Amino acid sequence: MKKFLDLGMQPLANKYLTSNDLKNKKKEQFYHLEVGFDNKTKLVSILNKVPSQKMFDDNYPYRSSMSKTMIRSFKALSKKIIKFYKPKIILEIGSNDGSLIKNFNKKKVICVEPCKNLAIITKGKGFKTYAEYWNISLAKKIKSNHNMVDLIYSANTLSHISDLDSVFKSINHVLSNDGVLIIEDPSLLECLKRVAYDQFYNEHIYVFSLLGIQNIIKKFNFEVFKVEKLKTHGGSLRYYIKRTSNSKIKISSNVKKQLNAELRYKMDKFTTYIEFKNKVERSKKKLVELLYKIKKNDKKIIGYGSTAKSVTVLNYCKIKSEILDYFVDTTPDKTKKYMPGTHIYIDKYKKSLLNNVDYIFLGAWNFKDEIFKKEKDFIKKGGKFITHIPTPKIV
Ligand code: TYD
Repeated sequence: MKKFLDLGMQPLANKYLTSNDLKNKKKEQFYHLEVGFDNKTKLVSILNKVPSQKMFDDNYPYRSSMSKTMIRSFKALSKKIIKFYKPKIILEIGSNDGSLIKNFNKKKVICVEPCKNLAIITKGKGFKTYAEYWNISLAKKIKSNHNMVDLIYSANTLSHISDLDSVFKSINHVLSNDGVLIIEDPSLLECLKRVAYDQFYNEHIYVFSLLGIQNIIKKFNFEVFKVEKLKTHGGSLRYYIKRTSNSKIKISSNVKKQLNAELRYKMDKFTTYIEFKNKVERSKKKLVELLYKIKKNDKKIIGYGSTAKSVTVLNYCKIKSEILDYFVDTTPDKTKKYMPGTHIYIDKYKKSLLNNVDYIFLGAWNFKDEIFKKEKDFIKKGGKFITHIPTPKIV
């Protein structure tokens, strides 16, 4: 791995602080957020990895059901899975609060979710749930309990696991010969194009590309047979993967198309990442200038969506509560708490919290359309949004 980007010392994302934590001066864990490119595998990853147990514990706040966009995306995919693959048994790695699997027959689903506070939700609804990390010993256990699985799905999870060889070896162990693996994660091409440096934080160990995925899975005789571009999480790719020995499924032409797009963007070259780094540094300068200029005119700015992504932005740009009065968010486990590192307060979303606000910094820029729709009144009254994607500006 060759380093190309330094985002400074960062607290662990998703480790929101309570008022007691602040009172007791709880020491937060910081790590150096540096990002590198591996010329051999073409993978992009953060360099200093935090152990999974420190990130995905029994108080993990993130809920995929908090956004209508995600719910709709999962529902559409479920219909497709049933129509095209008719799986007898589906395994989801990183099932979170069950937003995808709720679309399937309970008897056909196996959930894997190491965060116990989330696993308890799907368990409570009667879904078979393993509250464990995805690894070979769990794969063996699942195989001995349920036999082979014919569809494995994992969204925004595999990029959170450091040892990709172990991930795919374990998948290889339980996936049937004709089985299909579907994974989706933020797309590196979109991340580079949008200068979305906030896709990098301790949980996002990798930001995947088709180039990188192909290099990792070929060791296990898997191949990508279809890719889909998704709008979720600021531009994601959904990879459909099969065994190379399975000739019943044809390889779609969009695989080559995506690969060509990545090569056209020179994602296989280190210099591309240096250019990205330069853009990130310019983005920081511009955002800080913009916010300070607004603040100088005595305007009130708040944040909307206390995302893990905004933890990276705020700590990298050193934006604290002198600039952003507070954040609003709908997630129960985040609200009435404080942002990691910068200690900006997160209030439970209600419309009245937007009264007397002049500007809103879009922490959840990936849900811009959904949020703009919801906040029509704020916009009508002359309220403005600020986004740093693809370049800091008022929208
Ligand atoms: P997301 O972008 O998925 O987060 P991360 O960077 O942490 O992976 O999270 C979106 C956040 O925005 C989540 O905390 C919920 C919040 N949110 C609202 O508060 N209101 C909304 O209308 C939407 C769409 C999201």
